[in-house]
Amino acid sequence: MTLDAEKRLAAEAAAELVEDGMLVGLGSGSTVGYLLPALAYRGLRVRCVATSPETESSARELGLAVESFSGLDAPARLDVALDGADQAAADGWLVKGGGAAHTREKVVAAAADRFVVVVDSSKLVERVAPPVPLELSAFGLASTLRRLGTVSLRDAARSPDGGMIGDFTGVFDDALELAHLLSADPGVVEHGLFPPELVSDVVVARGDVVEIRTL
Ligand code: 5RP
Repeated sequence: MTLDAEKRLAAEAAAELVEDGMLVGLGSGSTVGYLLPALAYRGLRVRCVATSPETESSARELGLAVESFSGLDAPARLDVALDGADQAAADGWLVKGGGAAHTREKVVAAAADRFVVVVDSSKLVERVAPPVPLELSAFGLASTLRRLGTVSLRDAARSPDGGMIGDFTGVFDDALELAHLLSADPGVVEHGLFPPELVSDVVVARGDVVEIRTL
């Protein structure tokens, strides 16, 4: 079975976790690309918020109701958020942001009562490792890069919130320590290390078997 087939299988299983009437956070990336039609197919009355313009337009095309998550009129909490990951470690840490949407993805995950991560078997790792995606403030960028030391800037568009996208490539042993270091830097808008406390379940497909790991 191909990794794409695993993504589809895991995404279909994750779509089954959504219930009628829920407020749903939609992640970004190719796995979410399989989740959206599976969710739309269920015909539930759900209200969604999207973590990227791409997800928003795909979800709308499939007939899902997508609302803004900006401003004071937006939902203050979500029932569930579903998203992919670049790395999912045995100890629960994730690396996200391969698609540069990690800032909005983390905001949406934090707003959800349940954050469900959906991955194919290639994403499972023993421990998270570089590269760790970063969204950086354009203001003071050179000084931020000097402080962080080992960052490679992507030749990519800015995020929808105006941030520059790069990857921390330095070697690290302790994900928590690096997460604190990155969060403490005023030039880092957000980083792609997601702690185990944020994750409720990991839905993983390996071949034609889907496993739901609850953290
Ligand atoms: C986007 C993400 C994605 O969830 C991550 O890159 C995985 O993508 P894919 O489902 O295409 O493998 O974090 O910012």
